[in-house]
Amino acid sequence: MLPTSLERFDTKASLQRSVADQMADYLRDCVSRRGVASVSLSGGSTPKRIYELLAEMDLPWDQIHWFWGDERNVSADDEQSNFRMVRLALLDPAKVPAAQIHPVETNLSDPAAAARDYENKLRSFFSGQSMPVWDLVLLGMGDDGHTASLFPHTRALAERERWFTENWVEKFDAYRYTLSAPAIAAGRERWFLITGAEKREALQNVLNSETSADDYPAKMIMPTRLLVTEETLPVSA
Ligand code: 6PG
Repeated sequence: MLPTSLERFDTKASLQRSVADQMADYLRDCVSRRGVASVSLSGGSTPKRIYELLAEMDLPWDQIHWFWGDERNVSADDEQSNFRMVRLALLDPAKVPAAQIHPVETNLSDPAAAARDYENKLRSFFSGQSMPVWDLVLLGMGDDGHTASLFPHTRALAERERWFTENWVEKFDAYRYTLSAPAIAAGRERWFLITGAEKREALQNVLNSETSADDYPAKMIMPTRLLVTEETLPVSA
């Protein structure tokens, strides 16, 4: 997981402000270069504030496409829904056109069908490309070392062919949906945002070459940028 750049912030708020500003600049640049930009969004509390800050900015909303790197197997108006979180924080306030929004159509009774449907959506958007070449993949990490919904000791960790898959997570007794590690790796930029002292041990294990990705799935991702708060960093860092 050794990133090309490590950026340290004193507070979660300063990290969130910086990421929002840098995301805005980067996405404007992507649109000016290619006329379009694609973002795979993360759930979690760290990015939520970033989305709220982005919504206040002047961005080329008609040229940016928003996707989800993972989703819970709940309806779109459920409090657990990552789509709902992004809609309230970013999409509604910024009045993002519906054509730019690509949520996972969850299917509570047939998660495999919902995952296949999203994979088809992704392959249609990235048609002609062997992998989903996102401009930006935003990622968080849980205190168990999971990222997206790639949780320790789950089947999705071994997925190498599919871009998007359902994933049974025993500890939640529920399905999640997630990008596979190869589909995350395809992103031009992969920003890992990690905050919270409770993540320190997991981050130490993720950065430790002796540990396994099955135990700490975030190890599977090679971020282009690792943005952390001081409290999250192992003491030795
Ligand atoms: C989710 C996220 C998840 C998140 C981590 C960290 O659906 O919850 O995709 O992987 O990134 O749990 O969340 P925080 O940003 O709240 O620490």
